[in-house]
Amino acid sequence: MSHSAISENIVEEHAENGDVKARRAFLAAAGAAGVCYAAALAYPVYRYLASPSEMALSASAVTEVTLKDAQKLPTGSVLMFKFGPSPAMLIHHENGQWVALTAVCTHLGCTVQYEPQMDRIHCACHGGVYNPYTGANVSGPPPKPLKLFKVAVNDAGVEVSRA
Ligand code: FES
Repeated sequence: MSHSAISENIVEEHAENGDVKARRAFLAAAGAAGVCYAAALAYPVYRYLASPSEMALSASAVTEVTLKDAQKLPTGSVLMFKFGPSPAMLIHHENGQWVALTAVCTHLGCTVQYEPQMDRIHCACHGGVYNPYTGANVSGPPPKPLKLFKVAVNDAGVEVSRA
């Protein structure tokens, strides 16, 4: 084999090695891009499917909420707030009693409202009625009472925690 033929072989081998490396690099990049693309598509689906359990998890993760300056809430009025992801209410009754409850109807999950003039908690969706002191389901379709929270009033605000 002549010297120039050997050189050509070496050049061809280098060229082939270069092609193989470039091909491998391209395939690796394409594979990584494919994984990223699949993850980008799958994540929203995962979030959608997992959201009820995640909501429950995040709801149970919250054990206490401090409502700054809520000690100034006048009697006969209500303060709506969030306990984790869920609406809740703090009622300062005319007799001075403080009551905090979930504001999620136990029927189909509508947000309930305190009606001081009627001395009740009412769900406008299907007419459910709850006792504003105990959360007991009084009438209408709600199958269970509203959950009560513990309430601690101090000079800085009101602390609401899981009972
Ligand atoms: S959701 Fe409240 S009564 Fe139906």
